[in-house]
Amino acid sequence: MEAMISRPLTAGLKGEAMVPGDKSISHRALMLGALAVGETGITGLLEGEDVLATAGAMRALGAEIEREAPGRWRVAGCGVGALREPENVLDMGNSGTAARLLTGILASHPLFAVITGDASLRRRPMRRVMAPLAACGARFSARAGDLLPLAIEGARAALPLNYRLPVASAQVKSAVLLAGLNARGVTFVEEPVATRDHTENLLRHFGAALEVEDTGAGRVIRLAGLPELRAADITVPADPSSAAFPLVAALLVAGSRLVLRHVGLNPLRTGLFTTLAEMGAGLAVENSRIAGGEPVGDLVVTPAALRGVDVPSERAPRMIDEYPILAVAAACARGVTRLRGLGELRVKESDRLAATAALLQANGVAVAIAGDDLIITGMGGPPPGGGVVATAMDHRIAMSALVLGMATRAPVVVDDASFIETSFPGFVALMNGCGAAIAPLPADAA
Ligand code: S3P
Repeated sequence: MEAMISRPLTAGLKGEAMVPGDKSISHRALMLGALAVGETGITGLLEGEDVLATAGAMRALGAEIEREAPGRWRVAGCGVGALREPENVLDMGNSGTAARLLTGILASHPLFAVITGDASLRRRPMRRVMAPLAACGARFSARAGDLLPLAIEGARAALPLNYRLPVASAQVKSAVLLAGLNARGVTFVEEPVATRDHTENLLRHFGAALEVEDTGAGRVIRLAGLPELRAADITVPADPSSAAFPLVAALLVAGSRLVLRHVGLNPLRTGLFTTLAEMGAGLAVENSRIAGGEPVGDLVVTPAALRGVDVPSERAPRMIDEYPILAVAAACARGVTRLRGLGELRVKESDRLAATAALLQANGVAVAIAGDDLIITGMGGPPPGGGVVATAMDHRIAMSALVLGMATRAPVVVDDASFIETSFPGFVALMNGCGAAIAPLPADAA
């Protein structure tokens, strides 16, 4: 446990920063690089624990993966269908994305593997991927029917899947598409609401034949099986979900001006920016460009007097990881904010709906959960603070609480900041470099 304290700031956050690489794209770059023929160079790879777990798993499955310099990696792939059986259990640490996408890859490869993870990941549901993947011919055996550890016997001659997603989940969609790579015939996935499309973008980048049809009520994706994926270099943009923390901090702390460089602006990831603009935030995007097949730009953030908003549930897939930090912004806004349709937050790294409510409550903010909605009564200024937040093995709860502490009247403490390493190595140094005051909690204060 690494307890940390974040002290209220009296001067603004200033400077230019580039947050680490996008987590979703980093996992997929390593996985697809390992399934391609040839050498894929990756620049800007996130070197957080979650992505390192994926690198370890793809190595155990036969790919050669090397770090050449900070953020610069090289993957020599095996080719679709040519992964080797791992000698040991694959430990995916804290990462649901790694566990679920890997389950998709393994389902259509004729080998035996066991996936496990840390105590948080071992509580998260796996049936959502096992159920569709079983139809390709894979056999699964999971603890309590739904939980890791999960034993997988991949299909000998996988059948292509045809699946309509019952929940908006890019992880489930991606697991089905990745299984389809080693299945003869066309894999269909239908999603009622569009979710992040990094798997689709990268599959095309590696030469797979993939069609996406917007039906007006979601998307239908068709993937032709057994492509020869060809190695292709990848540039990973800075993660918008990580940029969200310094961004909200700069909105809340008077006198701030932060420039966040090279942030991924894929429209299926930018729901937070839309919501903050509705709340009155002045966010400017400079140098909009396409890099590595994804839109990116530099975000310029200055403080704003925010007002409460009602956020519709349809927006949830475009900002699913940003609710804890949005709740922090809402706590400082004037008026009530209602965040609708947050049922999926219950199965994140923690029960993030409960953890977000507890984070605010511990710091004197009035908050209620009504069904799947979170209702926050904004203070129209600095909340009291002074709370100790239980991070529940959840990196985003830890970072949200530390940002809250910059804008409260009294400091905010988190019981354990160690999980920040899963997605945002260097978070404390980056924030302190811009003027934050985050420090280990002195032992006598614990
Ligand atoms: C992710 C999808 C989302 C998100 C997670 C990353 C991905 O999960 O919360 O952090 O990379 O596909 P769901 O697909 O479960 O919504």
